[in-house]
Amino acid sequence: MASSAIRIILLVLAASAMAAFAGNFYQEVDITWGDGRGKILNNGDLLTLSLDKSSGSGLQSKNEYLFGKFEMQLKLIPGNSAGTVTTYYLKAPGTTWDEIDFEFLGNLSGDPYTVHTNVFTQGIGNREQQFHLWFDPTNDFHTYSILWNPQHILFSIDGIPIREFKNQESKGVLFPKSQSMRMYSTLWNADDWATRGGLVKTDWSQAPFTASYKSYNAEACVWSSGASSCSSSQSSNGGWVTQDMDWASQGRLRWVQENYMIYNYCTDFKRFPQGLPAECSTA
Ligand SMILES: *[C@@H]1O[C@H](CO)[C@@H](O)[C@H](O)[C@H]1NC(C)=O
Repeated sequence: MASSAIRIILLVLAASAMAAFAGNFYQEVDITWGDGRGKILNNGDLLTLSLDKSSGSGLQSKNEYLFGKFEMQLKLIPGNSAGTVTTYYLKAPGTTWDEIDFEFLGNLSGDPYTVHTNVFTQGIGNREQQFHLWFDPTNDFHTYSILWNPQHILFSIDGIPIREFKNQESKGVLFPKSQSMRMYSTLWNADDWATRGGLVKTDWSQAPFTASYKSYNAEACVWSSGASSCSSSQSSNGGWVTQDMDWASQGRLRWVQENYMIYNYCTDFKRFPQGLPAECSTA
C-alpha cells in the first residue's frame, strides 16, 4: 500500500518534471546554421526552419544522448515543396558514426510527401525504407518519434510504428549502442535527387519554404563527460528503456508496411545480388 503510494507520487513528480522540460526550444536546442532562417518563437514553444535560394537552416540538440525516446511535432512545408528535404535525425560524430534518420521529401502540391528512413551503424547505412503517409503532413502538426533502446530502434508517427530495426547482434549485425548521438533537424534544397528522383526541381518563386516544430520531448539518457544521466538517477527511466512491441503495435506496423511502404531495401534483390543483408531474414 504505502510503497505503491510512493511509486505514484514518484511517477507524478517524474511526469511533471518531464512536462516542464518538454518543448522549450530555448532550453533544448541551438540553431546552428542558416543565418536567421531558423527561428525560436512564442517563448520557446514554436520553432521554424526556412529555406530560400541562398540557404537552408538547421538545429541541433544541446544534449547528447545514449538511448532514449525522442518526439517532435512537425508541420511540413505546405503547397509546392518539391525539391526540398526536411530532416529529423540522431547522429554520432566521426567517420564510423551511427545515425537514425527521418527525412521528408517534398512534392508538388497535391502529390504525396515521401518519408525516407535509414539506420547507419559504424558509418554504413544502405538500409532505406520509404513510406507515403495516411494523412496530409502539411495541414497540421503530427508527432514523429524515434525510440532507441538496447533491444531495438522504432520509428513511429502519431504513436503508430512504421519501422522496427531490431538488435540482431546475435546474427552479427551491428547495432548502435556505444556512441552518444545528438538530435538534428535541417531544411535544405535537394532538387538534384529528392522529388521523383530529381526530375522535379524546386520552384524558387514559392520561397521561402518553412517547416514548423513544436513539443520536442527527449525522455533519454543524457551523455556528458563520459557518463550517462541514467546510471546515477533513481528508477525513473520511464517505460521507454524496455519498451517492446506488443501485439497491437505489431498489427499497426504490418498495416503501415502493407499499405504505405513504397520502398524496402530488404526486398530489393537487384540491389543486393549477392544476397540480402543479414538483418533482412526473419528466420
Ligand atoms: C511525389 O509524387 C509522385 C506521384 O504521386 C510519387 O510517385 C512520389 O513518390 C512522390 N514523392 C517524391 C518524393 O517524389
